[in-house]
Amino acid sequence: MKPKVLVTRRIFPEVVERLRQHFDVEYNEADRLWSPQALAERLREKDGVFLTPTERVDVALLDACPRLKVVANMAVGYNHIDVAACTARGVLCTNTPDVLTETTADFGFALVLAAARRVTEAERFLREGRWQTWSVHMMMGREVHGTTLGILGMGRIGQAIARRAALGFGMRVLYHNRSRLPEAVEAQYGARYVDKDTLLREADHVIVVVPYSPQTHHLIGAAELALMRPTATLTNIARGGVVDDAALAQALRDGRIAAAALDVFEGEPRVHPHLLQVPNVVLTPHIASATETTRRAMAELAADNLIAGLGCGPQAGRPPTPLNPEVLSSTAAGEGRAGS
Ligand code: DGY
Repeated sequence: MKPKVLVTRRIFPEVVERLRQHFDVEYNEADRLWSPQALAERLREKDGVFLTPTERVDVALLDACPRLKVVANMAVGYNHIDVAACTARGVLCTNTPDVLTETTADFGFALVLAAARRVTEAERFLREGRWQTWSVHMMMGREVHGTTLGILGMGRIGQAIARRAALGFGMRVLYHNRSRLPEAVEAQYGARYVDKDTLLREADHVIVVVPYSPQTHHLIGAAELALMRPTATLTNIARGGVVDDAALAQALRDGRIAAAALDVFEGEPRVHPHLLQVPNVVLTPHIASATETTRRAMAELAADNLIAGLGCGPQAGRPPTPLNPEVLSSTAAGEGRAGS
């Protein structure tokens, strides 16, 4: 009998077809959002799940689904998955790094430009029929080229943004990260490692690219915003909750910083009502990796992980991007449930 898997959102037909070659697939083609209870109900008899950041994997779900062996996440971020609880139960978790790095960096840079140059604000102005004539002072923004970019979180996406900033826009790059990068990597972007406060004080544009965790919750709040230059911009493409959205709305309203751009929000898809009221913030609905090419690559990689994680296909037992590879060695030793 084929293993049973659940695909929780609408993806790409050819990826579903590939999964069907190995599995008995239940597919949410209607793309309805399920409550945690509905998800648990559908997952109860399944061996694996292909899911996205809209589904939460927590202790309650894991306890309700004792057959579950593999959680294949179609995203690089995985704060919606309790990986430690999965590991404790021998459940393999995987994500989709690398394939979205450049696309996400493009979008991050687009948001830095949009905030600095008031792109969406200017478009609203035009669409609302308020543009009467060209004028010297109309919609003046902030320079991007030749200024200083501060990157909080210098992983793969942070480095791809640094490359665009240094090589494409002649920017000085400051970064702060859990650990300092090797000198040779810093040299590629002329990037200088600084503490968080120095970065906030010196950068003309700050971009946040750290994963969400209890340690990064409200990494940028009122105190941090108060350190920034009144002419600076802040961009968040990381996860909602890394920036305190209420404090940011207040800082924008008070002119504490010049502008912001957000692709992710605390409690999304809800957006803090005060953010919707301030003109100097660019708001996009969590689309940094959303190009057809990249979303397909993410889906294919998540499928590769699910197939290999459940012991099928040419890479059986060797999923390409595991988050808790220790599960693989313990299940190979017959201790847990992944792939068994
Ligand atoms: C990711 O891959 O983490 C993106 O934010 C899409 O959710």
